Amino acid sequence: MNKHTPVLLNESIENLISNKSGIYFEGTIGFGGHTELILSHLDADAKYIGTDKDIAAYEHCKNKFKDDKRVELYNASFTNIIDISKIEFIEKFDGIFADLGVSSFQLDNKDSGFTFREDVQLDLRMDKSQGEPASFYLNKISEKELADIFFKYGEERNSKKIAQAICNYRLNDKIETTGQLKGIIEEFTPERFLNKTLARIFQALRIFVNNELDELEEFLEKAVSVLNSNGRLAIITFHSLEDRIVKNYFKEKTKTCVCPTEYPVCMCDTKPELKIVTKKPIVPSAEEVKLNRRSRSAKLRVAEKL
Ligand SMILES: C[S@@+](CC[C@H](N)C(=O)[O-])C[C@H]1O[C@@H](n2cnc3c(N)ncnc32)[C@H](O)[C@@H]1O
Repeated sequence: MNKHTPVLLNESIENLISNKSGIYFEGTIGFGGHTELILSHLDADAKYIGTDKDIAAYEHCKNKFKDDKRVELYNASFTNIIDISKIEFIEKFDGIFADLGVSSFQLDNKDSGFTFREDVQLDLRMDKSQGEPASFYLNKISEKELADIFFKYGEERNSKKIAQAICNYRLNDKIETTGQLKGIIEEFTPERFLNKTLARIFQALRIFVNNELDELEEFLEKAVSVLNSNGRLAIITFHSLEDRIVKNYFKEKTKTCVCPTEYPVCMCDTKPELKIVTKKPIVPSAEEVKLNRRSRSAKLRVAEKL
């Protein structure tokens, strides 16, 4: 089975590698598509550290790269980058890469509990040993909190109506499965809008359950602090919420002054930490989108440490 087709593969590699014998960190190894090609461009004395929260992805890569002495993998969140660098006696990385979101394997495999195309336990956690499944929150939190999650993380216009329907349903029955949630939404969503509405609601719950946006912000901050001068930070995002965070963070770190606008002269002595390499994000070619529809929303942004 093809577990995941890597997106923007050559574009990522061209923009990430500055030193063939360098030390690299990949936060989201998934099924090792990017990892494999990046490693093929690095020399024998390079070092490669990878993380993935998902146990199936981690075990797959552990086996795939077991004979490569350059590689050390961790079943952990990429927010652990600093702790991991200490364990590995690494001071700075020459390149840091993340390809955010979920893999096709997670989306398509019913045991992962991510798909609304099958009736499975409504889980949506990447690391099932941490936190609570999505069903726990659907049964527990207030109507207002649910509506806020659907609006904020799914940009869903019917967020209040959907939250209300969930709360009415749970008066009589506990919500445990993707089929139940789908059924609740199906009741009042026209057939032609159903898949897009379900995609937005599942995305919102997934972002919430995995704390994805906060983790991304934490990761960016930590990554820049352990990036070597001239080292590259390359991030692939899949929706506007993630992309905005990366874009704004890069912009913030290029600033030379953060004084209030009413100050006549600069008093802050701010030093920019990054230079933006991709003024506009790199997006997949029409050909790539034709071959892999899931690549259509991908955006690659790259910055270089000063
Ligand atoms: C789009 S896939 C990566 C696919 C990979 N580039 C490949 O070619 O196979 C995203 C992966 O990131 C992992 N992931 C998402 N957030 C993470 C986090 N905070 N820490 C570690 N892994 C994370 C997911 O479990 C998933 O396996």
